[in-house]
Amino acid sequence: MKLGRLNHVGVATPSIEKSLETYRTMFGVEPRGAPFDLPAQGVRVCFVDAPNSQIELIEPLGEASPIVKFLEKNPLGGQHHVCFEVPDIHAAKADFEAKGARVLGEPRIGAHGTLVFFVHPKDMGGVLTEIMETPGEAH
Ligand code: CO
Repeated sequence: MKLGRLNHVGVATPSIEKSLETYRTMFGVEPRGAPFDLPAQGVRVCFVDAPNSQIELIEPLGEASPIVKFLEKNPLGGQHHVCFEVPDIHAAKADFEAKGARVLGEPRIGAHGTLVFFVHPKDMGGVLTEIMETPGEAH
């Protein structure tokens, strides 16, 4: 498996609007587009661009959202996951599994429109890790 660029850092928040206000006040930056729903992941999403990567703000979409528990433990929100690109999502999944890592579910369409999956933090030094197929390299 080939490790690609750090695509984004996922930040869970109880309110995307409040988080955007923080980025606006602290950095003077505006989001890349309006927030949008990502039902497949159970989150509402909005991106803020940095020159070399992005911050992915994620807010729960419904009570069954996978980030509800995280926000119960971290009411202000906080750093939730990191996302690395790979050239081939299916090869990457097979590679993680061959190494004994717990892949959480099947690859699903992520916020950038390419397939993603998550690797359990217990197999990644405590960091929930999203693996994403590099846009434009779909097989
Ligand atoms: Co993400």
